[in-house]
Amino acid sequence: MSFNRRRLLGLEELTGEEIDLILNTAESMKEIFTRQVKKVPTLRGKTIINLFYEPSTRTKSSFDLAGKRLSADMMSLSISMSSVVKGESLVDTAKTLEAMGAEAVIIRHGIPGTPKLLAETIDAAVLNAGDGAHEHPTQGLLDMYTIREKRGKIAGETVLIVGDIKHSRVAKSNIWGLKKLGAEVRVAGPPTLIPPEIEKMGVEVYYDLEEALVGVDVVNILRIQLERQEGGFLPSLREYTELYGMNQERLQLANDGVTVMHPGPMNRGIEIAPEVAYGEESVITDQIPNGVAVRMALLYLLTGGEQIEETTN
Ligand code: CP
Repeated sequence: MSFNRRRLLGLEELTGEEIDLILNTAESMKEIFTRQVKKVPTLRGKTIINLFYEPSTRTKSSFDLAGKRLSADMMSLSISMSSVVKGESLVDTAKTLEAMGAEAVIIRHGIPGTPKLLAETIDAAVLNAGDGAHEHPTQGLLDMYTIREKRGKIAGETVLIVGDIKHSRVAKSNIWGLKKLGAEVRVAGPPTLIPPEIEKMGVEVYYDLEEALVGVDVVNILRIQLERQEGGFLPSLREYTELYGMNQERLQLANDGVTVMHPGPMNRGIEIAPEVAYGEESVITDQIPNGVAVRMALLYLLTGGEQIEETTN
């Protein structure tokens, strides 16, 4: 099957077959990490631009590394030092970058729908690196890649997403993607942080974390988004930790060999105890290189890169 898209706005719009293709392509990309020279000429001569209107460590740097490993010319616009601060619009900024020859623009923005607006404006490929509380599709894909790598499959696994579902684009992308690949998905958190419409996405809702953990294969613990809590959604962080913080004792309620994930950045000691974050069930460190592999796959598929060379070492 071929991938005929020029944009990745969210996992809602992808089919299960397309998600499988991305994950399989990412597996080939990950093989490159084992080579002596971790670089292939697949995207040589192509220019790719990172346009991040919100802070990022993982997503921005892993897109940067992904492009470099495929030999693309990578450029990151520093928004705070750009003409955006002089009032230049997103559309004019993007058209300027496209006129420089950008083949792909990776965008993170606080307003949902901004990547869609961009995709309707420019011919370059557009990749959503997180738009408000809408979607974070590359995080969803790397989480699915990690589950498949660790557990051998996604279909039939029971995945629990814990925390601030309301503000979480990571949760939305995980739910869309996991459901399409046949996982059972549960969400758990305080009633104020679980939007009522979430049940329409086919998930089971729990307000009691300990009840939610019984029979679970994978726990994905979300960051409490301290920057998005102005509406009084949480009485206090201490209370949140008491009721929803993941600690070793609670984790025992899940199935043996449960897999623990977190998209990062972590508030250690708030939503996740340090011994869980770095415990033997945790694959949080594995999620990082998997993010690079998934983003390599997407840059390759969306910009129509050349065939990947067989290993030479
Ligand atoms: N998980 C994630 O999106 O992390 P960053 O904000 O550091 O990119």
